[in-house]
Amino acid sequence: MKLRSKAAALLLLALAALLLALLSLRAGRSEPPASPGHPASAPQRHPAPLPARPPGSRALPGARPRAPRRRPPRPRPRAGRRGAGSLDKLARRPGQLRSVHAVLPPELWIHLAVVACGNRLEETLVMLKSAVLFSHRKIQFHIFTEDSLKPEFDKQLRQWPDSYTKKFEHRIYPITFSVGNPQEWKKLFKPCAAQRLFLPVILKDVDSLLYVDTDVLFLRPVDDIWKLLRQFNSTQLAAMAPEHEIPKIGWYSRFARHPFYGSAGVNSGVMLMNLTRIRSTQFKNSMTRTGLAWEDMLYPLYQAYRDAITWGDQDLLNIIFYFNPERLYLFPCQWNYRPDHCMYGSNCREAEREGVSVLHGNRGVYHDDKQPTFKALYEAMRDFPFQDNLFQSMYYPLQLKFLETVHTLCGRIPQVFLKQIEKTMRRAYEKHVIIHVGPDHTH
Ligand SMILES: *[C@@H]1O[C@H](CO)[C@@H](O)[C@H](O)[C@H]1NC(C)=O
Ligand SMILES: *[C@@H]1O[C@H](CO)[C@@H](O)[C@H](O)[C@H]1NC(C)=O
Repeated sequence: MKLRSKAAALLLLALAALLLALLSLRAGRSEPPASPGHPASAPQRHPAPLPARPPGSRALPGARPRAPRRRPPRPRPRAGRRGAGSLDKLARRPGQLRSVHAVLPPELWIHLAVVACGNRLEETLVMLKSAVLFSHRKIQFHIFTEDSLKPEFDKQLRQWPDSYTKKFEHRIYPITFSVGNPQEWKKLFKPCAAQRLFLPVILKDVDSLLYVDTDVLFLRPVDDIWKLLRQFNSTQLAAMAPEHEIPKIGWYSRFARHPFYGSAGVNSGVMLMNLTRIRSTQFKNSMTRTGLAWEDMLYPLYQAYRDAITWGDQDLLNIIFYFNPERLYLFPCQWNYRPDHCMYGSNCREAEREGVSVLHGNRGVYHDDKQPTFKALYEAMRDFPFQDNLFQSMYYPLQLKFLETVHTLCGRIPQVFLKQIEKTMRRAYEKHVIIHVGPDHTH
């Protein structure tokens, strides 16, 4: 961008900020601050949950916000001095969601896969929402699910507003297992979970893929994790985070009766894969002296370790990368941040430094009260009215909810959870301003 247009944009920004500051003085007078005793305004938007539905399903992401727009209480942001005031100003700029994404040829799309069975519909939709909300590129969703859930996925995704639907396309696939006994695969760990092992075989036309569990939330653009593909060296073909940061108290080192990757094993809830490479590689293994192709290896491996594995397909992945460690890119814990990283004290350094990038609420923590910090993030994302201002309708309610979590170890480090989301919102906002205010519409 040229210097002159940048200066013009800055000038405009300053003017807007001044105007907003004046406006907010007036608005502030007419509205008493809310007491922290009544934290999130979001739940109040949906006053009467229907008793027939399971808890948590009252605000399906597909549902448009119905309730009257109330300005949520606005606490002073705690995260970082650098922007408390300007964050406040940003909060009053509507429409930063209309960010422009570049028109890209299909080969530059991000491919995101998820396997959703049972009662994971809402959770999956919230995950997809978080992906679309912040991403700059177009995303191709590959949703693997039971026949009974397919119509609901279709319906809900089509109900999203245009500004979202134009950023993704979705394909829905049945659960299929190409080798071995389908019933046996289905029973492994959780219904359908073993499906992820077959993605390289099923998605033959896809070069690279990000697979995530349904209980994952993106707190920054998916583009950022996708970029890690470029960091693979010539032998690496998949990336995962360690199962635990402190190997000696991690599950694998204490209990596993099978080989596993590294000293703590890997967690397969967030998995970035170059499928082209996976399909063209011969993997070392314990059964044959020669390598085996991915597809040919899965069932023999399963049979060989069937009685030793506890966590199903994740254990198989650990076994595979135990024999082929040079094929794995180990990414830091901020890309797969779980309750384990804070519930006994904070142990994920990268998240302390950079903030959580991808949240993984395993152990069902979005749906019970064991880890209210995780639940607060889930509900903030779920209840965010699609078109609203991110600061007002997500960030501030979230901060208020966090105030109620300080009695937990995870709740004592709110900045770890908020850092990336704050940065992401700021970036989304700036992008919007530069594109819409800047005189030249290039980017
Ligand atoms: C995946 O690997 C193939 C083969 O090495 C390579 O041509 C392709 O560019 C890689 N894809 C990405 C996104 O890096
Ligand atoms: C790629 O990185 C892995 C893990 O750090 C390493 O084991 C492997 O030797 C590297 N491959 C090459 C070709 O350098």
